[in-house]
Amino acid sequence: MKILVADYIYTPQGYIQNKAIAFNNTIQAIESPENLQKSYPNAEIIHSEANSVIYPGFINTHVHLEFSANKTSLKYGSFMPWLDTVIEHREDLVGCCDNTMMMGECETMLKSGITTFGAISSFGNELEVCEKTPQRVVFFNELIGSNAQYADMLYGDFMERVKASQSCEEESFITPAVAIHSPYSVHPIILQKAVNVAKQYQLPLSAHFLESQAERQWLEEGEGELKAFFEKFFNTSTPVTNIEEFMYAFDTYPTHFTHAVQANKEELAYLASKGHSIAHCPRSNRYLGCGRLPIETLKKLQLPYSVATDGLSSNDSLNIFDELRAAVMLHHQAPIQILAKQLIQSITSDAAEILGLDCGKIEVGKLADIAVVTLREEPKREEEIALWTILHTKTVSRLFINGEKHV
Ligand code: BEZ
Ligand code: FE2
Repeated sequence: MKILVADYIYTPQGYIQNKAIAFNNTIQAIESPENLQKSYPNAEIIHSEANSVIYPGFINTHVHLEFSANKTSLKYGSFMPWLDTVIEHREDLVGCCDNTMMMGECETMLKSGITTFGAISSFGNELEVCEKTPQRVVFFNELIGSNAQYADMLYGDFMERVKASQSCEEESFITPAVAIHSPYSVHPIILQKAVNVAKQYQLPLSAHFLESQAERQWLEEGEGELKAFFEKFFNTSTPVTNIEEFMYAFDTYPTHFTHAVQANKEELAYLASKGHSIAHCPRSNRYLGCGRLPIETLKKLQLPYSVATDGLSSNDSLNIFDELRAAVMLHHQAPIQILAKQLIQSITSDAAEILGLDCGKIEVGKLADIAVVTLREEPKREEEIALWTILHTKTVSRLFINGEKHV
């Protein structure tokens, strides 16, 4: 048993003071340090630095580790020139991204307090790293392929990867999961088969959706920049699906849709009505010129969202605090203290609920995934603790996963 003492604890009831938590692999009690010492006299007592806040470990629901080698290869500014360079450099980038590089990025996430991440995997290359990293990993095996001719082969490869991730579920913190690449890149027949696999095994399900204006135009009109792309690389000139057909394919199973920046209010309302959620990647959206997700509309519709980094294919770091600061700047019209609280919630309790994990809250019975943030000075107003946490933190001062210390 461990007892962790800090000036503040972030709980579902808000920030509380003069309390500590007792935990083994789950949280056992939240009480005064004195009471906990009486209840657990043999516990290891850990005193945090002054002005520290105990948070549940942070959750990054959407990252592509296999693109960690990208620094300047991919063109930023606009979605289609970026996608062209992904096709051009994909083999080189994935080829030179070895386990050491991916493990280094898991460590960056760990230092920023991330105790769980959702790894979107196109090839299965990162499975070994995800088995070894201390974090919990929701391993999203991604299905891609719009050409019906190759669909069976691509689906077969996808199922092999799903099985490989299922086979390491027992001895690691891996949860097998399914990802659909996007509406424009997955044939509806294999899409439905993959959704059925997620349903059958109750696996978390995710899909990129309406990331760019080019995607919207292609799905609605069969025109625009993606038309030239498909003519050039795939020798086709018609989309395999449309927005409605794609959304309806997920009707009976809650799905984590990534981006949705170009979804309109009716589409967002539809997603909300079906129990879906959104992965919001502010820096990725900005760097690829995709626009701003109206999170104020999501709030009104009660459509849950997480804030996630996406991969280094469209980002400059996997530090979750860098992402939260970017979100503060991107959503410049939002009241800053309220926004800061919502952002913290989006990477803790909301993200855990979205991924179906029993962490994300400092609450008795929850898994003991914990990140301690040490503020630079005593916070003068309680309502600003979330904001100072976001603005002043680069790395956490302590971190526990399943009750074990890792930072
Ligand atoms: C496709 O198979 O249609 C596809 C693959 C990668 C990017 C875009 C489309
Ligand atoms: Fe992504």
